[in-house]
Amino acid sequence: MSLPAAARLIRPDAACMASFVEAMREGYSRDNLRAETPQTIAQIAAEPEAFVRQLLNPPTTIVLPDGSLGERVPETHFWAVEGDAFLGSISVRHRLNAVLEQWGGHIGYAVRPSARRRGLATGMLAETLGWCRENLPLERVMLTVAEDNPASQRVIEKNGGLHADTIPHPWVEGARGRRYWIDLR
Ligand SMILES: CC(C)(COP(=O)(O)OP(=O)(O)OC[C@H]1O[C@@H](n2cnc3c(N)ncnc32)[C@H](O)[C@@H]1OP(=O)(O)O)[C@@H](O)C(=O)NCCC(=O)NCCS
Repeated sequence: MSLPAAARLIRPDAACMASFVEAMREGYSRDNLRAETPQTIAQIAAEPEAFVRQLLNPPTTIVLPDGSLGERVPETHFWAVEGDAFLGSISVRHRLNAVLEQWGGHIGYAVRPSARRRGLATGMLAETLGWCRENLPLERVMLTVAEDNPASQRVIEKNGGLHADTIPHPWVEGARGRRYWIDLR
């Protein structure tokens, strides 16, 4: 599985920031539990280069979905682009901590609404698993997905994901989520 022709995976690049902001206005969100707001979009649009710098050198703390401050493990971000057009994002956390072991896992991704159903998420995950094999000392990676997200479950299963268990979603009241593992070796 590879990315559709013309799309490629790059490290975040300021040249794609106008398109990244457009994608947020279209409904792309950096975090599938929290939609972007006019405020978050305006903040990023005002300082696009600082935003890219932060993705390339992430801070060591993170605001968790319940508003508390947690440890951010080392993370590498990639963008799928066509020319300077931003299509989607995928990121790899280099190790799990107690929060990510429960929910979050090693890899998260999202595709902007206008670029969905073209095989982008499947191709982004396939390429990122290759990067993990070459760059991280991991035997396997964990991914988590809400029970009501069949598209993402399909993306993971097409990339060899094995459904390990289904648990109550720790951040969404009343929802359930699946934890998957993908072998790297
Ligand atoms: C989930 C998401 C990443 C899928 O991205 P995508 O680029 O459209 O996925 P692909 O084109 O690679 O499709 C993968 C598979 O899912 C299927 N699929 C895509 N959208 C679907 C939908 N809405 N309902 C059911 N199946 C769907 C595709 O048909 C394909 O399966 P197939 O090859 O058997 O036909 C995208 O919908 C998204 O960004 N959603 C919001 C963020 C999110 O949920 N992130 C993942 C969190 S775990």
